Amino acid sequence: MSKILITSALPYINGVKHLGNLAGSMLPADVYARAMRLMGHDVLYICATDEHGTPAELAAQAAGMDVAAYCDQMHEAQAKAGADFKLSYDYFGRSSSDSTKALTQHFAQVLEQNGLIEERISQQVYSNSDGRYLPDRYVEGTCPNCGFEKARGDQCDNCGKLLDPIDLIDPYSALSGSQDVEVRDTRHLYLKQSEKSDDLRKWVNSHKNDWPPLATSIALKWLDEGLRDRSITRDLDWGIPVVDADGNPREGFDGKVYYVWFDAPIAYIGATQDWAHDNKEASGGDWESWWRTDKGADEVQYVQFMGKDNVAFHTLSFPTTIMGSGEPWKLVDNLKAFNWVTWYGGKFSTSEKRGVFMDQAIDIAPSDYWRWHLMANAPEGSDAAFTWEEFQASVNSDLANVLGNFVNRITKYCVSKFDGTLPDGGKAGEAEAWIAAELQQRIPALIEFYQQREFRKAMSETRAIWAAGNEYLTQAAPWTHYKTDREKAAIGVRYGINLVALFGIIAQPIIPDAAAKILDALNIPEENRTWNFGDASGIAALVDALPACLPVSAPDVLFTKVEDEDLSIWAERFGGGS
Ligand code: MF3
Ligand code: ZN
Repeated sequence: MSKILITSALPYINGVKHLGNLAGSMLPADVYARAMRLMGHDVLYICATDEHGTPAELAAQAAGMDVAAYCDQMHEAQAKAGADFKLSYDYFGRSSSDSTKALTQHFAQVLEQNGLIEERISQQVYSNSDGRYLPDRYVEGTCPNCGFEKARGDQCDNCGKLLDPIDLIDPYSALSGSQDVEVRDTRHLYLKQSEKSDDLRKWVNSHKNDWPPLATSIALKWLDEGLRDRSITRDLDWGIPVVDADGNPREGFDGKVYYVWFDAPIAYIGATQDWAHDNKEASGGDWESWWRTDKGADEVQYVQFMGKDNVAFHTLSFPTTIMGSGEPWKLVDNLKAFNWVTWYGGKFSTSEKRGVFMDQAIDIAPSDYWRWHLMANAPEGSDAAFTWEEFQASVNSDLANVLGNFVNRITKYCVSKFDGTLPDGGKAGEAEAWIAAELQQRIPALIEFYQQREFRKAMSETRAIWAAGNEYLTQAAPWTHYKTDREKAAIGVRYGINLVALFGIIAQPIIPDAAAKILDALNIPEENRTWNFGDASGIAALVDALPACLPVSAPDVLFTKVEDEDLSIWAERFGGGS
């Protein structure tokens, strides 16, 4: 048994997340957390809302709300969406908590003591009519390169050139449209990432064999291009105030806060502290054994889940903070990065409301359906296109036909012909030997895929195991033997019911609701729902492990098929569709 710390990229506060966010961070982290718990590991799965930065301020403004109140409300909405999707966070915290604030200021102080932070003056566009500095993408104007009149401050969408907002001709505020803007000098703190380049490269290279190529290649690309020092403060009111070496408000930094990407990953630690504080019983008040290598965290396996746009921050910036502190903080051990789920030729988009959002998804289909579909089609090796037709196929073929039918068929048969009592007797024959051999090969493969965080492979192995159950029933065909050879029918039913239990057990990380229904119908006690199968002989024994006379009932309908009509309604409502 080991201690496994799991974090998924902190969902940004400005709205309930879409299925692309879910599929690329929270959901696989949850499936992994559940699988590792079943294997008996001591798992801590931490997430939180990422609440600072300009987009939070603007979203609150658009909602006509005070930023803090807006964040309170959106945090609740996201916590609810997570609960509806059965995300089994041990803690769902907030980056706006006092703990994260204190940690952020602490890291900034030690980084400065270690010579890794310095003050620099830069130019930034200030909007007189908005009364604020404008972040790069909120300044628009004419592109100095191609003359396009709606170029954004960070990039021209017409010619693609990367821009500096102060180079725009006739700049104006994208917030108000006002041209009453000027360039002002502003003082900021810079994190000297460049000085950590060599250490970072060594560290990334040391993970070349255990991180997905997507993660190492993104990190190495940035390193090869030469890491630039980054400003870690912003001219903004909403965020964590900038302090000096003594922890007092820093002179010249009125109206400035730390950059949201500086404090957000630190919130992984802050949220763990909050978990320990709020869950004294589970934690014993101890967060340090998860994060401090001098307090046992060197024994912890730390796994992060994120979309590919987050990789640079997790492999370069945050590690610079951690390493640069010179303190014994835990670095990530395994990093699982995902590509995008695409939505009919484009990206899901929060700002453009493109795609399906978590609260809408739960409105039209149970969480299990989404969980299975998104994991079976996880954007692991490449981007994965979402289509309504494939969602329908996942539910109808995999869940309803392969798993649902199997469970239904054999439990109902046991109820009607064997009084709902697990039958005894009978001699194992060819079919029984076949299914035992299948499992002996497939279960270890399944476990290995989970350990490697190969989700598509884990899902297809799961489906293959379910399908083998149907194949077994075809071979054993208890219904054809019932009249002539009751013993032979009995063993088919007994093995069949044992398979139902096993299928429920392996379904738990992915489709927890259906799995619970199945296991409840068979009265399987909680302690027997784990994945402690032991060695090969333990696995072979699974086909005949349930106690004789176990009362068996048929679960309620597990999965309802998705009809073509549903598809048209959804395609109409959300766009997309054929
Ligand atoms: N909020 C970011 C996003 O939505 C992710 C933050 S991850 C963390 O892309 F490391 F900062 F926590
Ligand atoms: Zn241009």
